[in-house]
Formats: sequence, structure tokens, C-alpha cells
Amino acid sequence: MDTKIETIIEKVEDLNKDSAVIEKAGRIIREGGLVGFPTETVYGLGADALNEEAAAKIYAAKGRPSDNPLIAHISNISMLDNLVQEVPEKAKVLMGRFWPGPMTLIFKKSEVVPKGTTGGLETVAVRMPDNDIARALIDASRTPIAAPSGNLSGKPSPTIAEHMIDDMYGRIDMIIDGGMVGMGLESTIVDMTCEPPMILRPGFITKEMLREVIGEVEYDKAIFAKPDENVRPKAPGMKYRHYAPSGDFSMYEGDEEKVVAVITQKAAQKLKEGKKVGVITTYQHCDLYKPLEQMGAEIITIGDENKLETIANNLYKVLRDFDKKGTEFIYGETFREDDLGKAIMNRLTKAAGYNIISV
Ligand code: TXA
Ligand code: MG
Repeated sequence: MDTKIETIIEKVEDLNKDSAVIEKAGRIIREGGLVGFPTETVYGLGADALNEEAAAKIYAAKGRPSDNPLIAHISNISMLDNLVQEVPEKAKVLMGRFWPGPMTLIFKKSEVVPKGTTGGLETVAVRMPDNDIARALIDASRTPIAAPSGNLSGKPSPTIAEHMIDDMYGRIDMIIDGGMVGMGLESTIVDMTCEPPMILRPGFITKEMLREVIGEVEYDKAIFAKPDENVRPKAPGMKYRHYAPSGDFSMYEGDEEKVVAVITQKAAQKLKEGKKVGVITTYQHCDLYKPLEQMGAEIITIGDENKLETIANNLYKVLRDFDKKGTEFIYGETFREDDLGKAIMNRLTKAAGYNIISV
């Protein structure tokens, strides 16, 4: 983008006290501008979902490929009817159970949703976020808000306003600083236009949770395939290398002791070559890397392996912190892939460019 915008940055702590900020942000959206705002998953970069030109500005600001559709965010169920052709019964059940919350549903789109928002598709993704600031902003805008994650395309999603400022300052009209997000991973996406419904992106709402309320649900096979296997994902965004730090990131899986030994050996080699090295580990294992730490490696404890939500919460911040420090080689342990672990490993696998080594 060639023209620099003066980005307004406003903190919102109390919606009653800060209602003027929300009003101002809502006006910007109505007038076709761009506003960064918190949700419970990650920060989003919002524009009027029904205004094709506004949506085009999102793609420009992010450097996002134009075939990658946006999610329309709504603040109450009554906004849905206008956006979709029909609401399948199972979708109604899921909405009743998980909205507002980290679940995005795909429907057949209505005429009012421009293809500029849906990346040319005949379907539209919709979500009702579980965040008061986000819903107040949608109310103030009086329109559904199209919002991808607020990062530059390819970078880890923002989990604090500072990340959005790093990526979007000078590119968008306003950023609402609502503190740290609650979850730290993007919503689960479920395609309701097929039978059985299909998970296109794993997240906090797991397959098991969905099955409990609507029965059979399947995963898009492409989620767990490598790009060279040529399985085309149904969510266009899932085909891109994503969430990636600038450094060379590799992950190691297998027997715990062996993993620690291999990471230690590889990292020690890079340190000897004078490189900046980082290691991602857990509370359970961090002490095992003391020797590496003494050699100058940065050992980052990402969370508790028995509480995967702590890992989800820190994931993108850890990857971004490595970028800030200029870490050249990053070594990570893998995590178990049940429940939330699937979503975590899905993001980490992409961040590592599928560079996962079994030891
Ligand atoms: O938690 C979230 O979902 C966050 C917050 C801001 O709400 N948003 C988010 O948006 O992660 P984004 O644009 O980064 O990811 C949206 C994903 C992309 O992979 C895109 O391809 C997919 O949703 N998607 C959107 N519309 C779709 C559609 N009609 N059919 C299939 N996939 C779709
Ligand atoms: Mg994204």
C-alpha cells in the first residue's frame, strides 16, 4: 500500500465508560473504513461485510490473496437470515449451544453478501463472537463485520493489540485495544452445506463437542495432509503457509528423552556457529534444557502440557516474540493431538512449514 493512514489507537476497558470509542469505530465501519478489534479467539481486522469496496481494503491491508474468503461477524441471531439462503436444523442446534463463541459456520450465501467478501464463493462463513467489545462494535456499525485475523498475511494471528499495531499501523483507520484475547487460536470452522457437516479448521470447539449435540461430523482430510499430497482444503485459507515466524522453525516428535537430546544437539551446533537459537518447551520439560540455556539459547516455556489451553493462549505470542528478538533457529516439541491438541498441532505444523522430524 502506498498511502499511509494515521491509525487511531484507543483502549477500551469498560464499555459503559468507553462507549464514545465504540461509536467512533462503528462510524468508521459504516463509512467503509477498517477497524482492528478484539474477539475471544484472536484480534480481527473488520470492515462492513456488505460493502465490497470495504472488503477489498482488508485484502490490501493484509496482503491477503483475494480467493481467501472472510468471516462475517454478527452480534445477534436475527442478523443471520439476511446473509444466508437457509439455516439447516443442525446449524440451529449448534448455534444454540455454541454461540456466541469460537465456532464459525458455513452457509449458502444470500444475494446481499458480495463475492468480494466470500472470495468468489457461493457460501458465506458466519460467527457470533463471545466478546463484549466485538459485539458492541457490530451493534454500533449496524452491519455484519467481515473480519479475518488482524495479522499481515502469513504471520501469526494477533492475540494482543500490540501485535495488531506491529502489523497494521499506518494501514488501517483504527485499532481498539481490548487487552489480551481469551483463547489465542482462531475459531473452529464447520461447513453446514454438506452432510455430515465437515470441520474445515480445528479449534476450541472440538469434533467431540460437536458430535455430542448433532451426531456425525467429519474432518476435511486436507487438514492433516501435507501440501505435497495435493488434497485441496475446502477452506481456501488452509492451503497457505501460515502463522510462520521468520526464523527456521523445526519440531521434533517421539520419545521424550530422545527429543530433548536431539534438540539439544542441533541447537548446540547452531549456537557454535554463532546463530541466535530458541527452544519451545513446556513447564514439564523446561529444566531439561538448562545446559542449552547456559550456552546462550533462549528457552521459552509455552505452557502446561496437561492444560493445552495454556499452550493455545501463548502460541502466537511466542512465535512473534522470536521474530522480535531475531531468533534464527527455533526448535520445538510436539503436543498430543487429542481435543484442543489437534488445533494446536495444526497451527504449529504450518508455522514449521511441515518440518516435523520423528526421532
Ligand atoms: O477466530 C476467528 O475465526 C478469527 C476471528 C477474528 O473471528 N477470524 C479468522 O479469520 O481466523 P481468517 O480470515 O484468518 O480465517 C478464516 C478462514 C480462512 O481459512 C478462510 O479460507 C475460511 O475461514 N473461510 C471463510 N469463508 C469460507 C467459506 N465460505 N468456505 C470455506 N472456508 C471459508
Ligand atoms: Mg488468519
